[in-house]
Amino acid sequence: MKNLIIFSHPTRDSFNGAVLSTIVRELDNKGWEYRINDLYSDGFNPVLTLEEWENQSKNIYSEDVKKQQRGILWADNIFLIYPIWWMSMPAMLKGWIDKVITEGFARKKENGEIIKTLEEKSLYIFTTSGRTKEKLAKDYDAAMDKVLLDGTFKYCSFKNMNRKNSYAVTSATNEERKRMLKEIEELVKNL
Ligand SMILES: Cc1cc2nc3c(=O)[nH]c(=O)nc-3n(C[C@H](O)[C@H](O)[C@H](O)COP(=O)(O)O)c2cc1C
Repeated sequence: MKNLIIFSHPTRDSFNGAVLSTIVRELDNKGWEYRINDLYSDGFNPVLTLEEWENQSKNIYSEDVKKQQRGILWADNIFLIYPIWWMSMPAMLKGWIDKVITEGFARKKENGEIIKTLEEKSLYIFTTSGRTKEKLAKDYDAAMDKVLLDGTFKYCSFKNMNRKNSYAVTSATNEERKRMLKEIEELVKNL
């Protein structure tokens, strides 16, 4: 199995970094190939310029976007790792989605038929929040899943998707953090 990890956090010296290490260790244990696209440290430019916006409809992409798209086509599984910021995602990842997961790449119309390029791939999303489960689960989790899973990725052709959030990581004790990482480890082990 080939795995592409999109890591969207300014530093690996963070709980998100620990999530990344946990996932990578489990993929190694399974003997599965993986690539890491670390958007901040790779210097990905998330701004969709006027020229790029105009070119998208002609299916013309810059080299850095083509590199991301090649990675997606290569992979069987795509992992997104990011912190919840303003009940959404870092602008870096939003820009990555706007530029990379496009109509024309993820969805194409050929002879009047919609071709879903990525539908055989699985998408595993790992998020972290400052807020507790009680505060998020009531309505924000459902809202985020509606927008992200349904409105973005299902529309853009993924069929198999899952999001796992680690709650209240900013106030968690070391023990609680270890337990949350263990849950992620088990999840990846059972893929
Ligand atoms: C700009 C910004 C916005 C944030 N917005 C939210 C939010 O809307 N909901 C929430 O639960 N936590 C929010 N947080 C807290 C982060 O989710 C939390 O710091 C992060 O998940 C901790 O993981 P890390 O140590 O890997 O950064 C925000 C943090 C920042 C920096």
